[in-house]
Amino acid sequence: MTDGATALGAAKPGETAFTPPVQQGEAILEVRDLVKHFPLTKGVIIKKPVGAVKAVDGVSFDLVKGETLGIVGESGCGKSTLAKVLMNLEPATAGSVRYKGEEISTLSGPALKAVRRNIQMVFQDPYTSLNPRMTVGDIIGEPFQIHPEVAPKGDRRKAVQDLLDVVGLNPEYINRYPHQFSGGQRQRIGIARGLALRPEIIICDEPVSALDVSVQAQVINLLDQLQKEFNLSYMFIAHDLSIVRHISDRVGVMYLGRLVEIGSDLEIYEHATHPYTQALLSAVPLPDPAAREARDRIVLVGDVPSPANPPSGCRFRTRCWKAQDRCATEVPLLVSPSWLGGLAGHDSACHFAAERESGPSAAERGAEGGAEPGNGVDGGSAAPPEEGQG
Ligand SMILES: Nc1ncnc2c1ncn2[C@@H]1O[C@H](COP(=O)(O)OP(=O)(O)O)[C@@H](O)[C@H]1O
Ligand code: SF4
Ligand SMILES: [Mg+2]
Repeated sequence: MTDGATALGAAKPGETAFTPPVQQGEAILEVRDLVKHFPLTKGVIIKKPVGAVKAVDGVSFDLVKGETLGIVGESGCGKSTLAKVLMNLEPATAGSVRYKGEEISTLSGPALKAVRRNIQMVFQDPYTSLNPRMTVGDIIGEPFQIHPEVAPKGDRRKAVQDLLDVVGLNPEYINRYPHQFSGGQRQRIGIARGLALRPEIIICDEPVSALDVSVQAQVINLLDQLQKEFNLSYMFIAHDLSIVRHISDRVGVMYLGRLVEIGSDLEIYEHATHPYTQALLSAVPLPDPAAREARDRIVLVGDVPSPANPPSGCRFRTRCWKAQDRCATEVPLLVSPSWLGGLAGHDSACHFAAERESGPSAAERGAEGGAEPGNGVDGGSAAPPEEGQG
């Protein structure tokens, strides 16, 4: 995907590099080397800085107009922080976010307000993100108070009823309160509020994670339908890969504040080359018991390291069964590995990126629960690159 970028070699510690994908459409959002550190302090009266939580630490990607980019990663890897920094709800520590070519990470006041109209957010928890004391009409119509030009006062009731209709709720429910709705219906209310200002981008932060499985599909289908109807671009955040597959055109995988792999739906789900993605994929629930039994599961050992003190070199190295000395000293860049081609040749931040061979199943090895890292179960197919080539 990013020919030429590999010539850059491995980054020095802390360094990042990114070459945008070539064959895609127009980028509506360009994110480069985005960093968000939360300072850690000691002392009650005099607060001394003692470090920082590196929640987002050098993330680069493009969001293409009309696409859905899924962002996946374990809890605490920085997904919500990334979303908030993109929207400028949290100031970035460093890096750049450009919306249609305009830098927005440094905007404030009316200029920021104008841009925010175009980038909206849908939150995870429909129980806490809706004010229980406000009617649904007031919740959905609230954005009109900040942007009255979208719906002048006399038109607001009608505008809210139209939005209720668009998200599949009865427009007559306008005077009801959030507790009178089910979880799925509340998320529809959250989506209606997100749509009110007719944004171009919606960042959905785990929008279905708090919902019953049976309701998740309905909400995802609604988002899909709205995307087509309103020509929306989505960033869809989730903590597991199975949920994003249905809706995403491309998927980015995050680990400890960084993107470790990004590619099309097919590239990630069928030709993943980063060990972390492979481990996540091996844990995706399979409905078919036979397929589940035959699957070669990678069980990651060890905890996710603290984002206040991430490992040197590759951040995944403390849990990676392929780690070598080089992984402790050289930060792997998110680039297309020069030794891989076809669908495996997408961006992957691993010095030894390779597709996984389907080795012996857990059942064949007699190993309860699947493979343990460190036993060489991955069987990477490509020859490891020479020093300095990655
Ligand atoms: N306001 C904050 N102050 C300090 N640390 C924070 C703050 N917000 C998030 N963090 C930390 O940043 C890391 C990433 O958090 P978050 O973005 O919420 O992850 P995710 O959404 O992937 O679960 C976590 O270690 C979290 O504790
Ligand atoms: S092989 Fe090395 S660079 Fe690749 S994921 Fe494992 S630790 Fe990171
Ligand atoms: Mg989160």
